[in-house]
Amino acid sequence: MNPQPLITTTEAVDTAFYVIFGISGVSLLGITLAMIYIIWRYNRKRQPQPVSQKDHNIWLEATWIVIPTILVGIMFWYGWEGYLSLRRIPDNAIPIQGSSRMWSWLFTYENGKTSDKLYVPVGQPVKIRLTSEDVLHSFYVPAFRVKRDCVPGMETYVWFVAEEPGSYDLFCAEYCGVAHSSMITTVEAIPPAEFAGWLEEKLAVVDAGQTLADENGCLGCHSTDGTSKVGPSFKGLMGSERTIIKGEQQEKVLADNDYLIRAIREPSAEIVEGYPAVMPPYPDFSDDDIKTLQDWLETLK
Ligand code: CUA
Repeated sequence: MNPQPLITTTEAVDTAFYVIFGISGVSLLGITLAMIYIIWRYNRKRQPQPVSQKDHNIWLEATWIVIPTILVGIMFWYGWEGYLSLRRIPDNAIPIQGSSRMWSWLFTYENGKTSDKLYVPVGQPVKIRLTSEDVLHSFYVPAFRVKRDCVPGMETYVWFVAEEPGSYDLFCAEYCGVAHSSMITTVEAIPPAEFAGWLEEKLAVVDAGQTLADENGCLGCHSTDGTSKVGPSFKGLMGSERTIIKGEQQEKVLADNDYLIRAIREPSAEIVEGYPAVMPPYPDFSDDDIKTLQDWLETLK
């Protein structure tokens, strides 16, 4: 038995669309022309005389029932087949986890790497498993004709294959709050070899940062998954606004690279609100080390 040829989501949806559009177009034309003719022919001024007094015609009635039924049946068939193609995942599809929240996307690949843009290899089907961390969102990529709700408490999915390299818009298509319209990112379709390299490359950054943090005991007090331990979590640290206690004063600061340097070299000068001032300074971290940590923390955003 030959394996079924791969029908992409784009082909499936486009076929159904053009069939329905074509049938509708021909019907519109036919009905409009008939209507114009009848208006003209049976205008009162022409005083048409009825040619028949019959009150029904079985063949005519059968025809206008059978032909539309066949047309509607054809439209249903293409729609149904298209729908099945969207739901039937090719065996070789690469699984990617797609997580939505107000108001961003997070994609997690098989090896644990994450990104806020969706990277996919060209020519290879991918299956995106969709979840939501808060409210309803909707994963929508017009270029691949896929749209699926992300529902809190359940997992949904889409699959597609990018046949050409490029950058494709990815929208949230479900109103999810004030920043709904900025919940937009892209699908980056890159050649398979480049994709494999990309997958490993950032892992090296994660490895280096994690190893450094581990060797210096940082992870004893700082989690990477958002839970509070003795100190605040590393997750979401970079770029966030922190409330700190500086001397007696409370202040808000932006957690940028300079903040990170201060927090490592002189941790007792600025204490994050709600945490004890127990972190020792780490003067031995070189600028390179701090860069390594920063690159790693960027991946934990
Ligand atoms: Cu998420 Cu709209």
